[in-house]
Amino acid sequence: MMVGCVAAVSYVRVGSVLRSPAHTRSQNCKPQWTMLCMQKQENTWAQMLVRAFREASATPLPLLRQVADAMTAEMYNGLAAEGGSQQLKMLPTYVENLPTGEEEGLYYAVDLGGTNFRVLRVLLGGKQGRILKQEFEEVAIPPALMLSTSRELFDFIASEVVKFMAKESDDFKPHSLDVREIGFAFSFPVLQTSVRSGVVIQWTKGFKIDDAIGKDIVAAFQESIGRLGKRIEIAALVNDTVGTLAQGRYFNTDTMIGVILGTGTNACYVEQADAVPKWKGPIPASGQMVINLEWGNFRSPYLPRTFADEEVDRDSVNPGDQWFEKMISGLYLGEIVRCVLVKFATDAVLFGGSVPLKLLKPFSLPTPAISKMHSDDSPELKLVKIVLEDIFEIKNSTLEARKIVHELCGIIVERGGRLAAAGIVGILQKIGRAGSRNNGTPVPNKATAVAIDGGLYEHYAQYQAHMHAAIVELLGENAAQSVVIELSKDGSGIGTALLAASHSQHAKRHKQAESLTN
Ligand code: BGC
Repeated sequence: MMVGCVAAVSYVRVGSVLRSPAHTRSQNCKPQWTMLCMQKQENTWAQMLVRAFREASATPLPLLRQVADAMTAEMYNGLAAEGGSQQLKMLPTYVENLPTGEEEGLYYAVDLGGTNFRVLRVLLGGKQGRILKQEFEEVAIPPALMLSTSRELFDFIASEVVKFMAKESDDFKPHSLDVREIGFAFSFPVLQTSVRSGVVIQWTKGFKIDDAIGKDIVAAFQESIGRLGKRIEIAALVNDTVGTLAQGRYFNTDTMIGVILGTGTNACYVEQADAVPKWKGPIPASGQMVINLEWGNFRSPYLPRTFADEEVDRDSVNPGDQWFEKMISGLYLGEIVRCVLVKFATDAVLFGGSVPLKLLKPFSLPTPAISKMHSDDSPELKLVKIVLEDIFEIKNSTLEARKIVHELCGIIVERGGRLAAAGIVGILQKIGRAGSRNNGTPVPNKATAVAIDGGLYEHYAQYQAHMHAAIVELLGENAAQSVVIELSKDGSGIGTALLAASHSQHAKRHKQAESLTN
């Protein structure tokens, strides 16, 4: 029976995919029976495809271990020499000291890294007052600017920042009357040349501004600010992971790793500077240096890639790059589901006799929509129905089809969360905080906190749950007890303002002057 079904539908696959079933099989059946027959066969075929897709996407523990080990190995390669790893850039960030809590005064941050950027002001009150007050605004970046010129992009951002600053109330008392200092979280790969300068290496997450490659991004932003005639200084240039780590450390001194799981993904961690052979600068007084992995570009033969990952990559603005990011982050999870649905609609007639036109539109299924479908526990899968109708104009989806859509969301999100866990464990292994799996000798585990920011982690409960469970699987119950995963809500923005404070030249001069007069 099964074989018969498969053979019949296989024929359909290689032949005229969308029309043949009814046409070839209806001759001996009454119309209604034909429909039933078809549905049964089609569903069976769709279920077989789901099973095959589940197998291709599977992340059993041994595979996760291989991914974690490959991440650790690539970290060593990337630290060894410039270009030592084709995948992990392992960028020294020039952040040698993380915020301590002593920071005081008014600081701004600009957080640019996705389809929106954030601008915020934070009033810091030192050890006692901590974060006294904060305000922020989120501004959508016009899509055309993501593919334009650096001048156009930064002129736009600078003017929004100036507008936001103009709304500063008297409650925010600046430490100096006319200058405003900002931390700039620029969440793309940058080769830093100091804590206040760095050149763009590559764009990700749908941005592509060719003239910016190789340019000092702080100078470009500062020029745009200058054109508006304002006294605003960029005190620190940081990746969003570094901002997240800084905020994590501000509240929990065990924080060693910062991770972003949002539109894009990446991680940074605190490394011993003398364990970075490619670092040619002086060893910092702290002995430490925050390293930005740029793990979005990680790849490994152990990554369970499917046809859908290949399609997503092929149709992206940066084909061949950022494989890990394209498997685990928010910009892409919905797109992976969409690609699989196109295949199922074509090969398994999932939505009736034709492929819904809207389904063919790249990036039309955002990850929040798959989260909504995935959270649907109604027997009729009503939310799935609504999303399919709203986004793809699929009016009469069958319950069977909706179950398949629901299941696919689950498979893709489980894989994403578990792979993210393997990445984190790869870093824990590098810094010797992953317990004793490697040599079998029990080592006392130091408490380690991992600060995570990003909408995907914050809002997608199942993603978060899969990630946590896989970390425990990988580390084992005992070692996992020493690791705390903390949501660092808005951490990248606030942490960036904290880093502006701890790297402020004005605050430094002010302190020096004070100590001279005392
Ligand atoms: C960028 C990283 C960034 C991450 C999260 C990636 O696409 O390359 O620099 O940290 O997205 O925003």
